[in-house]
Amino acid sequence: MPSLDKENFIHPLTHLAKFDRGEIPARIMKSAKGIKIIDADDKEYIDAFSGLYCVNVGYGCTEIIDAIKKQAENLAYYHAYYGNGTEASIELSNMVVNLAPKNMSKIYFGLTGSDANETNIKLLWHYNNLIGKPERKKIISRNGSYHGSGIITGSLTGLKNYHKNFDLPLNNFLHTEEANYFHRSNLDQSEEEFSKYCADKLEDTILIEGPETIAGFIAEPVMGNGGLVPPPKDYWSNVCKVLKKYNILFIADEVITGFGRLGEMFGSDYYGIKADLITVAKGITSAYAPLSGSIISDEIYDVIRDGTDKNGVFTHGSTYSAHPISCAAAVANINFINKNNLINKGSEIAKYFNLKLKETFIDHPNVGDIRYVGLLSAIELVKDKKNRLFFKNQGALAQEIVSKMAVNGILARAMPSGDTIGFAPAFCLSKKDADIIIDSISKSINEVIKD
Ligand SMILES: Cc1ncc(COP(=O)(O)O)c(C=O)c1O
Repeated sequence: MPSLDKENFIHPLTHLAKFDRGEIPARIMKSAKGIKIIDADDKEYIDAFSGLYCVNVGYGCTEIIDAIKKQAENLAYYHAYYGNGTEASIELSNMVVNLAPKNMSKIYFGLTGSDANETNIKLLWHYNNLIGKPERKKIISRNGSYHGSGIITGSLTGLKNYHKNFDLPLNNFLHTEEANYFHRSNLDQSEEEFSKYCADKLEDTILIEGPETIAGFIAEPVMGNGGLVPPPKDYWSNVCKVLKKYNILFIADEVITGFGRLGEMFGSDYYGIKADLITVAKGITSAYAPLSGSIISDEIYDVIRDGTDKNGVFTHGSTYSAHPISCAAAVANINFINKNNLINKGSEIAKYFNLKLKETFIDHPNVGDIRYVGLLSAIELVKDKKNRLFFKNQGALAQEIVSKMAVNGILARAMPSGDTIGFAPAFCLSKKDADIIIDSISKSINEVIKD
């Protein structure tokens, strides 16, 4: 198997040359239950990142598996074009909009977080054309953000390594200050001052470009791949004020935060954000099947619907939009979360895990920042804590520590930005497993740093 893997399979987000040379170990996963996953050599791991922060209910959930099976037997596929649908897609859309903010009663289903973000950008452009504001086309996102790696979504993403040599970002995709308090350039700023500074920077960008040219702003309620960074105090209220002032529509990218990871159904609820469009994926099915959604405000939907009377069919769609197997998985997943009170349980275990993380590492000389909200937690390593000096080869140390943790049976993630180790376990994490994870971080950091 491993040799075939090297011969035929292009791995995403992988140093391909190192992988080919065998410098990166191939890990082939075989089976899983709860928070544990087993590889082809029968080695068992605790998955402290729930795949890619997506297997929120844990692995092997019988209710979801049965729902997928039943749907595949009854009707594996029918498309949603020309007014068609399935019971699963109708039931799910009703379920999701009932959970969504009151100003939203429509959802469009795709397959990945990336395609849902792209749909949302396309909808914004289309909406502006229909309301007679075709000059409103520019999109602002943030440095450090992640919204996907496609041509548009890669342009939204604010991580430079996703742009380099891919001719991205495209024109009209702008990036403003990231809300990363630990990395602020002015160390004298308080959190509140830094939040105001970020909002001012956003306003500067809007004014330089011309508010009448900006279609929208997209952001993750908590920055994910850019280092698992909760926003500083007052950040969202300051930013929303600026967006409102210039009538700029807000896409909340809730691919990670949607469906309970912060202890509320949506990150927008947690932070009191009023978005015009919401992107969901990952947690909607807990990754048992691919599915994403673009939830849009009634105001935008009404314009787009009325536009079809003038322009004809809404020409956006894909073969697998609202795939019935994925929709059935999502219905079962949301029912399972609600029936088992999993969002509250996740929130409770998050408090335990995060407190232990803080207690264990607060005095560690190489842990510069400990940050968390709900079941998203991270520690960032520094060379010199007092003077906040970062390691030169950013990311290498975190990668080494994460590799060491994997050898010891714990899967965490070296985040694609900085020397940050991230944790995003499933909502069914137990105290015992939380303790084992913390213990493993501690041992692995000390062993690697000693070396
Ligand atoms: C916030 C956010 N948006 C979008 C995406 C892209 O989703 P996908 O990988 O399903 O295309 C991700 C993926 O991690 C994400 O974290």
